[in-house]
Amino acid sequence: MGGGGGGGGGGGVVRPLLLFTLLTCTSLTTSDPNDEACLTHLSQSLKDPTKSLQNWTQPNFANPCSGFTSYLPGATCNNGRIYKLSLTNLSLQGSISPYLSNCTNLQSLDLSSNSLTGPIPADLQSLVNLAVLNLSSNRLQGEIPPQLAMCAYLNVIDLHDNFLSGQIPQQLGLLARLSAFDVSNNKLSGPIPGSLANRSGNLPRFNASSFEGNKDLYGYPLPPMKSNGLSILAIVGIGLGSGLASLVLSFTGVCIWLKVTEQKMALDEGKISQLMPDY
Ligand SMILES: *[C@@H]1O[C@H](CO)[C@@H](O)[C@H](O)[C@H]1NC(C)=O
Ligand SMILES: *[C@@H]1O[C@H](CO)[C@@H](O)[C@H](O)[C@H]1NC(C)=O
Ligand SMILES: *[C@@H]1O[C@H](CO)[C@@H](O)[C@H](O)[C@H]1NC(C)=O
Ligand SMILES: *[C@@H]1O[C@H](CO)[C@@H](O)[C@H](O)[C@H]1NC(C)=O
Ligand SMILES: *[C@@H]1O[C@H](CO)[C@@H](O)[C@H](O)[C@H]1NC(C)=O
Ligand SMILES: *[C@@H]1O[C@H](CO)[C@@H](O)[C@H](O)[C@H]1NC(C)=O
Repeated sequence: MGGGGGGGGGGGVVRPLLLFTLLTCTSLTTSDPNDEACLTHLSQSLKDPTKSLQNWTQPNFANPCSGFTSYLPGATCNNGRIYKLSLTNLSLQGSISPYLSNCTNLQSLDLSSNSLTGPIPADLQSLVNLAVLNLSSNRLQGEIPPQLAMCAYLNVIDLHDNFLSGQIPQQLGLLARLSAFDVSNNKLSGPIPGSLANRSGNLPRFNASSFEGNKDLYGYPLPPMKSNGLSILAIVGIGLGSGLASLVLSFTGVCIWLKVTEQKMALDEGKISQLMPDY
């Protein structure tokens, strides 16, 4: 035994105790600090008026996983990390925290059928394992972040029934594994990227049902021009109609002018005849 070990009775007791506490702490907090940041910020950005997220409290954010199950309803764990979040149809309000990107093992994110507002955070691009993104039936606004194309494993992008605006990012067509894509019933505009609608054989990659319900979105596979509310025939009709109208208008103008000058001439004639002495 060295002198250090026996030096001071008090120290000898304190040190094993410290070690014991340290060991207990590390064995309890097996979870990842990134997941803790992710869950803490997410619970802060979500509003839960119907108190559906019971157990979504601070102690459980530090240690959310117990084997494969989670203490947090809606969360699923794998190897002590959150790998699935499914909080659907819970009347949740508030916004999607950008810190969700700290849940780096997330493979499936389903926040569908709530009342979430605000944008889809571009930070989600850090979720390199993400395969399923379902944010459908909310009140999300802003543009679809093109950065989502960085999540190379994405199989499912379902954003239908929101208030998303702007164009569909062309980059999303690069997602080779994409098998479900739905942006119907939003406020999107502009052309549908060919990379998402490209014909393979006779069928488009994603059919019209993925894109319909966006007033200013156009192009294949949507029916031609219908999305703009004006068919080509209607435009031709309006062109012809206004041409005809202006023709009629100018004709009437000429007629009125002729009539007026005629009357004036008649009047002048009368004046002249009045001035003329009668013979
Ligand atoms: C809530 O969390 C506690 C640990 O903090 C856990 O013992 C309990 O089983 C959890 N309840 C549910 C419903 O997951
Ligand atoms: C959503 O939740 C409500 C009650 O909270 C329930 O009546 C309804 O059936 C649920 N819808 C779905 C699709 O699960
Ligand atoms: C957590 O997410 C935020 C917001 O995206 C980011 O700024 C931060 O760098 C992330 N932290 C880590 C450790 O990745
Ligand atoms: C997304 O969630 C909605 C509602 O929860 C569901 O009906 C829909 O099938 C899901 N989308 C996909 C592609 O699984
Ligand atoms: C459509 O797909 C073919 C191959 O299937 C490819 O060569 C072509 O570049 C694609 N067009 C667009 C606009 O993505
Ligand atoms: C469009 O595609 C969806 C899913 O890929 C399919 O369920 C639906 O039947 C298709 N609709 C048409 C008209 O082909």
